[in-house]
Amino acid sequence: MKILVCGGAGYIGSHTILELLSADYEVVIADNFSNSCPEVIKRLEKISGTSIPYAEGDLDDQSFVDQLFEQYGPFEAVIHFAALKAVGESCLKPIEYYKNNLISTLNILDSMRKFGCHKIIYSSSATVYGEPEHLPIAESVGTSSATNPYGQSKIINERFLEDYAKADPEFIATALRYANPLGAHESGEIGEEPNGIPGNLVPYIAKVAVGKLDHLNIFGDDYPTPDGTGRRDYIHVVDLAKGHVAALAEMNTRKGFDAINLGTGRSYSVFEILNCYSEVCGRKLPYEIKARRPGDIAENYLDPTKAKEKLNWTAQYDLRRMLEDSWHWQSKNPDGYTSPADSK
Ligand code: WQD
Repeated sequence: MKILVCGGAGYIGSHTILELLSADYEVVIADNFSNSCPEVIKRLEKISGTSIPYAEGDLDDQSFVDQLFEQYGPFEAVIHFAALKAVGESCLKPIEYYKNNLISTLNILDSMRKFGCHKIIYSSSATVYGEPEHLPIAESVGTSSATNPYGQSKIINERFLEDYAKADPEFIATALRYANPLGAHESGEIGEEPNGIPGNLVPYIAKVAVGKLDHLNIFGDDYPTPDGTGRRDYIHVVDLAKGHVAALAEMNTRKGFDAINLGTGRSYSVFEILNCYSEVCGRKLPYEIKARRPGDIAENYLDPTKAKEKLNWTAQYDLRRMLEDSWHWQSKNPDGYTSPADSK
């Protein structure tokens, strides 16, 4: 069965490609490389020993999306990762976030309808829950409003899927609500390498550890948490990728829309992450305390019960393994996917 993976050259997408290939799916990648690069696909082919077809283009262009189905289809399902995804940045650029994240999904759904593809897995996020009243967060609390345009765009996209599922009885959609992905494939050949200065915590720490950035800025140590810093549900990206393969199989058992958390059921603070990374990389990593970041919340972590019940999936890797794999990737690729030899 052939799967169209939108954003398949990205951090989570690339790790999911490997798990799909291991599960004997055929894959096609669509990516505009705005937060990734073609080298990722070469690495995936090296790791998997498989040639991986891909198309470069923008999903906010309906003709590009239609062409994907015409040229590479038919597809059993679509997995849609492609989105702008930095919480802080989304507060500064709401128009770009809403246009990019919403139009791409509508175009994909329209092309799916035209070409008779009835299954989609949507990359959603824990940020759809906003500032949680209770922890851990179960799917049943619903999604009212997020604290930032990024999370809001995820809520609106989930509504698109829910409403389309009501209109088309053959349609099956699963929104996977992620915790915070960390780590890298054990080969060290692929990993998290955002373009420009990292917005997320661990890729930033990794750049400090490898000497590319001077120190970590901790955005607030006055949150109502034990050590005052923000707490998140961090999950190994390979656990996340395996969750997508499990979700594909589950879609054969039902119709309609469903949302499932992919989390670990616990949180870690910024200091806990920083201290563990210092141990893993073998040196104490410097930091400075700064003001809180707009859109941030004190803490969230997800209830993984439904994923266990519906997908027979639970996260397997602990924090130390996440950070060891992150450091293995970063120390092996200090300049990410562009090594000095490649940059000529
Ligand atoms: C984590 C903590 C910051 C950077 C991310 C993704 C989003 C979604 C959810 C999947 C917070 C603190 C961070 C830094 C810091 N993922 N921090 N200094 O905001 O939870 O969102 O996960 O859908 O796409 O953006 O993750 O790593 O940015 O922040 O102190 O330089 O680290 O305040 O407490 P966040 P993050």
